[in-house]
Amino acid sequence: MIQTVLITGASTGIGKATAELFFERGWNVVATMRTPPKSEPHPQDSRWIVARLDVTDPLTIESAAKEAIDRFGRIDVWVNNAGYGLVGTFESMNGEHIRRQFETNVFGTMRCAQTILPHFRQNCGGVLINVTSIGARLTFPFYSVYHATKWAVDGFSESLQFELRPLGIRVKIIEPGAIRTDFYDRSADFVHDQALISYNNMVEKGMAKMNATGRNGAPPSTVAEVIWKASTDGSWRLRYVAGLDAKALLTLRRVIPTRAYQALVRSQVLK
Ligand SMILES: NC(=O)c1ccc[n+]([C@@H]2O[C@H](COP(=O)([O-])OP(=O)(O)OC[C@H]3O[C@@H](n4cnc5c(N)ncnc54)[C@H](OP(=O)(O)O)[C@@H]3O)[C@@H](O)[C@H]2O)c1
Repeated sequence: MIQTVLITGASTGIGKATAELFFERGWNVVATMRTPPKSEPHPQDSRWIVARLDVTDPLTIESAAKEAIDRFGRIDVWVNNAGYGLVGTFESMNGEHIRRQFETNVFGTMRCAQTILPHFRQNCGGVLINVTSIGARLTFPFYSVYHATKWAVDGFSESLQFELRPLGIRVKIIEPGAIRTDFYDRSADFVHDQALISYNNMVEKGMAKMNATGRNGAPPSTVAEVIWKASTDGSWRLRYVAGLDAKALLTLRRVIPTRAYQALVRSQVLK
């Protein structure tokens, strides 16, 4: 039987590349997004549907899941990919910025999980994939709240797998490094109040370096391949790192003391 994947945030970047990869490899694909385009890439193909899904709106999550199950009979893999980065100086951010970041990256992921788990439980199986980041296990400057959301999803996923494994449901965490997508420009919510002059120099230098890293990152297809592996390897492995830079950085973070890691980031990003 043809398997079905549903992906959130499939309008661009990692989500779009993942949808295309699963489609090429013969799966039914439910590419979900906040604003479906007027023309779809595979309008005639019965294996591809586009559904509206905003992770901050529970009704759209339920209706996209229902549409997928009505059309294909079941969902085998659900990829929680939708997310964005709130970036800048923490003092400049207000409650609304912070809430919106958590609403999308954390509560959006949890809402989606609560929507699909009853279906997976009935089927005695399914794969729940949460796209976090290497930034769920290490940190960089100006991403304090973003890191908090990704660390939250990491802890959520690691604990959740204990209760889902006996039910045959696999939880997978995908940890990309720097990936060349809209993440660093169109999607970024950059917040810095220039009146807080003590930060200005640091922000100017640091953001330029962080954004340059993103622009030189790996293509989103790198992550799509890793999501494919996590979906199909049949293992109970929890974590999958995506990108060579990601593997190197996580290894470094593990082997050097925190103080040395902090000095390294300061010298590379802030100086
Ligand atoms: N790029 C990187 O270097 C990198 C590294 C580590 C982790 N990640 C993670 O990878 C995931 C995908 O990011 P990307 O790099 O592919 O960036 P992207 O190209 O900006 O894609 C982000 C996607 O999330 C969607 N989205 C944002 N808010 C949403 C909401 N409320 N409901 C539904 N969809 C929403 C966006 O939709 P719209 O088109 O409507 O804005 C877009 O489709 C994110 O979770 C990000 O944190 C990225």
